[in-house]
Amino acid sequence: MPDFLEISEVSPNELECILRNTAFIRNSANRTSDLLADKSVALIFEKPSTRTRLSFEVGVRQLGGTPIVLSSSEMQLGRGESIHDTAKVLSRFVDLIMIRTFADRTLRELAEFADIPVINGLTDKSHPCQIMGDIFTFQELRGNIAGRTVAWLGTGNNVCTSFLHAAGQMGFNLIFSGPGQFNPSEDAVAFAIGKGVSVDFEPDPIAAVATADLIVTDTWVSMHESVLEREKIWDTLMLYQVNTELMSHARPDALFMHCLPAHREEEVTSEVMDGPQSVVFDEAENRLHVQKSIMCWCLGLLPV
Ligand code: CP
Repeated sequence: MPDFLEISEVSPNELECILRNTAFIRNSANRTSDLLADKSVALIFEKPSTRTRLSFEVGVRQLGGTPIVLSSSEMQLGRGESIHDTAKVLSRFVDLIMIRTFADRTLRELAEFADIPVINGLTDKSHPCQIMGDIFTFQELRGNIAGRTVAWLGTGNNVCTSFLHAAGQMGFNLIFSGPGQFNPSEDAVAFAIGKGVSVDFEPDPIAAVATADLIVTDTWVSMHESVLEREKIWDTLMLYQVNTELMSHARPDALFMHCLPAHREEEVTSEVMDGPQSVVFDEAENRLHVQKSIMCWCLGLLPV
C-alpha cells in the first residue's frame, strides 16, 4: 500500500484519481461513512496544528474509523525511542500513520520501517496535503488547473515547494515574486521545469500578479524558522504584501489563497483575506475532503 509523502512521488494519474474521489467523498457522506470501519489511524504531531489536526481527526471519524492523536512529547519518541522501533510498534496497532514533523528524514525513516502507509502532514520541506486541498479548491471554482498560472508572493517555503511539485505533476506555471534570499527550493524548481512547465522569478510583484489565475502567499516565518532573521528584512518583505492595491493589478477573476494561519496586515491585509477573491476558508474546509480521499487511496479503498 502506498505512502503519501510528496506530490512529486505520486503519478499524475493517481493524483487525478485522488482529486476525483475527493468530490465523490464530499458529496456522498452516507455512502462513505464506513470506509474506515474497524481501522485506526495514528495522527502524530511534533509541531502545533489547528487545521491538520481537526481535518484528519474529523475525517477519520466521518469515514467510520478511530483517530488516535499523539504528540511526540506524550510518546516515548520524545524520550529518545528510535523512529525505527516506533514505526514497527505502530504497525502492530494501527492501519495508517499521519505525521507532522520537522526533518524530512524523520518522515522517510518512519515510512521506510512502517509496514503500513504513512502520510506527510507537513515537514520543514513540504506540505503536500495542503496543496492537494488547494488544487481541489481551484478546480472546483475555475476548472482544470493545467495550463494556468500561479503567482507565489513572499518567501519560498515548504508550502511553495509542494506547489512547485504540483505544478510539474499537473502542468501549470508558477511565478515566484519575493526577496532573492528566500527563493524556493532549487530541487523543487528543477522538478517543475523538468516536467515542462515554466517557473519564472519576477522581482516586481505587480508584474507577477498581472497574468495569474491564482495568487498565493503564506506566513513569512514558518514554524521552523527564525523571526529575528526575517525581521531584519521586514521592509523588503512588505513590498510583497498582498493588499488591495496589488490585487487591483490582478485579473478580476483571479483567486487568492493562503493556507493559514495568516498574519493579517503582514503578508496579506484583512481587506484581501476577507475580500471577494479570497477562498481561504474553502481551502481550509477542503483539507477535510481531500485528506479523506488520500487516506482511502493509501488503503486501496477507492469509491470511484
Ligand atoms: N495550513 C495548515 O496546515 O494549518 P495548521 O498548521 O493549523 O494545521
